Amino acid sequence: METSDSERLGEQLAKPSGAFGLEVAQMMHKGNAAICHDAFKALGAFVPNRVLELGMGNGQHSAAWAERLKVGQWLGLDHAPDMVKEAERLQAVHVAAGRMGFYLAQAEGMVEVLEAKGQLKTGFDAAISVNTLYFWDNPEEVLAQFFSLLKPGAPLILAFRSAGLMRQLEFTRKGFRFWEADELWRLLEQGGFVPEPMQYWVEPEIEFKGKPLAMDHWVAVALKPVDYSGVEF
Ligand SMILES: C[S@@+](CC[C@H](N)C(=O)[O-])C[C@H]1O[C@@H](n2cnc3c(N)ncnc32)[C@H](O)[C@@H]1O
Repeated sequence: METSDSERLGEQLAKPSGAFGLEVAQMMHKGNAAICHDAFKALGAFVPNRVLELGMGNGQHSAAWAERLKVGQWLGLDHAPDMVKEAERLQAVHVAAGRMGFYLAQAEGMVEVLEAKGQLKTGFDAAISVNTLYFWDNPEEVLAQFFSLLKPGAPLILAFRSAGLMRQLEFTRKGFRFWEADELWRLLEQGGFVPEPMQYWVEPEIEFKGKPLAMDHWVAVALKPVDYSGVEF
């Protein structure tokens, strides 16, 4: 693949658009199955009724897991208009029934958009985002937004590929920020969350540019603490 092709792929992963974007979204659905599996499995442990997802792509993993976990309402936010449209198209039945909803939003603008859509009458039982933190412009602000949207005791689940792996991929040269697990841990703590021990998983090798490449991912679960000050003991 020429450098320009790599750059194009990198741009599409950050914000899929047009016909190639739809193809990339389909490719992500397949290629991100393992990381999505572990992230959504972690979500299942909390038996959430109302879930917020940032960066759902075409939303196919979201819909499968919303059904599997019997989630009452699943809202997906994405800054790519074509992903919001595609998720709405693919999940039209769930959207019509009010079980799923997809809105256009920047990570830093989640609260404003949900407010405008009348979706902030109650908080969320859980929030999840897979493979998006490489693209956040202002990570502190994104965490602050998640914090304010979650109910006390609710988890934020962030899944991402290791910095070591990302550095080996040519398409990550522009527009991607690589994350070490301890760096995210500190940021979560600074943001008021209580992080659980992070899980590191190694996936089966894939062939990348004719060479074997060991895929991996981290799953971070961090809780919004409960305020016990008004509780009588
Ligand atoms: C690499 S894809 C991951 C899709 C899916 N979560 C997965 O793991 O297969 C990143 C998705 O997040 C969206 N995204 C990236 N940065 C974002 C941001 N700052 N705000 C909102 N959405 C963002 C992209 O448009 C894209 O749909």
